[in-house]
Amino acid sequence: MNAAEIRSYIREVPDFPRPGVSFKDITPLIEDGSAFHAAVDLLARATDDLDYERILSAEARGFVFGTALAYRSRKGLILARKPNKLPRETVAATYQLEYGEDALHIHADSVTPGTRVLVVDDLLATGGTARAMCQLVENAGGKVAGVAVLIELAFLNGRKTLEPYHVVSILSYDAGE
Ligand code: PRP
Ligand code: MG
Repeated sequence: MNAAEIRSYIREVPDFPRPGVSFKDITPLIEDGSAFHAAVDLLARATDDLDYERILSAEARGFVFGTALAYRSRKGLILARKPNKLPRETVAATYQLEYGEDALHIHADSVTPGTRVLVVDDLLATGGTARAMCQLVENAGGKVAGVAVLIELAFLNGRKTLEPYHVVSILSYDAGE
């Protein structure tokens, strides 16, 4: 299954969560075993040449692809979670929402100095979430090996927000798509 076929499993939901936004619903994709498998394989192939030891993914949708990719590549998985979810000492990075801000936490000992980390999420929009994950890695002394997402909303310029990191996406959408 190629990228165009995988794309056909992503359902566009107009005006969700608010008018004017076309939501990219990944649930039909991950509910189809062949499509999900092919999507993870494409992500794996696109990141095969990157040198990393651990994957970092953010709850909730990022876990779907981060977990699959970690299993396939036999790499460790670090969970970036919303506040008050992790039980031990954490470090946090904040990012902007449309109204206000939110934070992602990892355990303070998840990234040791020099650890090379691949940041994985389902979707890149403004780049705030992925950028916060990159900050978590760097604040702990780690190195960002790259950022990999299945879907990139190219018109929101998240890639620019993530400079100078190496960004890999499988499916790119323009405005109005
Ligand atoms: C969505 C998506 C990405 C993020 C991308 O997550 O899963 O993580 O938005 O947007 P950005 O590039 O503008 O930061 P969301 O915060 O909706 O939460 P969820 O994964 O828990 O559904
Ligand atoms: Mg998310």
